[in-house]
Amino acid sequence: MAEKLAINGGEKMIPDGFIKNWPPIDKIDEDFVLASLHQVNHAFGPNCVEFEKEFAQWNGNKFAITTNSGTAALHMAVAACDCGAGDEVIVPAYSWSSSATCVLHHNCIPVFVDIDFDTMNIDTKKIEAAITEKTKAIIVVHLHGLPVNMDEIYSIAKKYNLKVIEDCCQAHGAEFKGKKVGLFGDCAAFSFNQNKCLCSGEGGMFVTDNEDIYRKALMLWSFGETRTPVEKRDYHAYALGWMYRNNDLTAAFGRAQLRKLNSYLEIQKENARALTQELAGTKGVILPSEPENHQHNWYNYTIRLIPEEFGWKGNPAVFRNAVMKAIQAEGARISVWQSFILPRMTVFQAKNAYGKGCPWSCQYSREVSYNPEEFPVAQRHTDTHFGMTEPLRAPNGKDVAIMVGKAIKKVLNNIDALDIEKLGQG
Ligand SMILES: Cc1ncc(COP(=O)(O)O)c(C=O)c1O
Repeated sequence: MAEKLAINGGEKMIPDGFIKNWPPIDKIDEDFVLASLHQVNHAFGPNCVEFEKEFAQWNGNKFAITTNSGTAALHMAVAACDCGAGDEVIVPAYSWSSSATCVLHHNCIPVFVDIDFDTMNIDTKKIEAAITEKTKAIIVVHLHGLPVNMDEIYSIAKKYNLKVIEDCCQAHGAEFKGKKVGLFGDCAAFSFNQNKCLCSGEGGMFVTDNEDIYRKALMLWSFGETRTPVEKRDYHAYALGWMYRNNDLTAAFGRAQLRKLNSYLEIQKENARALTQELAGTKGVILPSEPENHQHNWYNYTIRLIPEEFGWKGNPAVFRNAVMKAIQAEGARISVWQSFILPRMTVFQAKNAYGKGCPWSCQYSREVSYNPEEFPVAQRHTDTHFGMTEPLRAPNGKDVAIMVGKAIKKVLNNIDALDIEKLGQG
């Protein structure tokens, strides 16, 4: 017998409060944060210094700089890789906005490359066609925590003498061929924003093994100065600098969470496995893949729908929106991660970041196309996906993952009970 969907007045599959919030807070967090509060340096203080050391050690990098966001760390990466006015940087057509706007922050031009549908990451086979004499770097985004094939990136980077910047904002602890992300590129950026696998509220980390790149990033990070706030400063701006430093309270929170990160990542992996098992063989869905040698951290478990398998021939996003609303009504905390591919975003369509068309109108820039039609794979992904973070995170266990799977199946088994046209708008 068909079950009545919650969106049609039936009983919710997942009761309120069953899915716990992220991140779990315990005495370790309280002790670190209170100790920071009761010491004297609340700006770039002792917890910032220790956080840099501990994160560098955790990831295996030589140098780390704590920042106030992942975006700040990405901008530092673009600058430290010597990208300047009119230089082009390759970016995937589907990511968080600042994976691409960080390029604009340094007067450079993002050039988009479509994604590979299976991995949702940049399609490495399409990168070479996007390279010009102005290309300086590739920003590799390990999207949703699935590492990009870094062997393929490296053979291209070597052939064209390009720098590689890893956007690891979602990929803490993910590995390619047994090596952690953030160790492959010339430098890398992590985010510690609320929703990330390591949460300090907001915040980020720039990492590199190259001292020259480290020094350049450091200068941009703190007012263009060459000395850090714990050294004897001369307060001289040697170059154009920003203020991307972190503060002590945030770093203290980050240090506390870092102590639990490995166990969080294990839980995420187990929960993702349980959800995959629960959904295996379900009609009309594509489950996320984890190709051999690519170890996912399961930051975001992303599912794509195949509307045609349910007889839907209209706009796939309308079908997805309707299904998603029905699953949300069952109490599963799922969402659309991005509704727009990057080239479709107004900042790129308008080509006017700094006014008067800059940086695209700069004499050093070349004409680039942001025609959304050139990125059909990213568009198909955007229109058909939904994903989740919290249900698979600690302190939630496999029981939660399985319940979410059941809620998804309940809706998919009762698609005929949904008014897709009506529900799918907006
Ligand atoms: C892939 C990716 N890159 C960059 C960022 C930016 O990180 P932050 O929000 O810390 O600036 C995010 C965060 O949402 C992200 O998901």
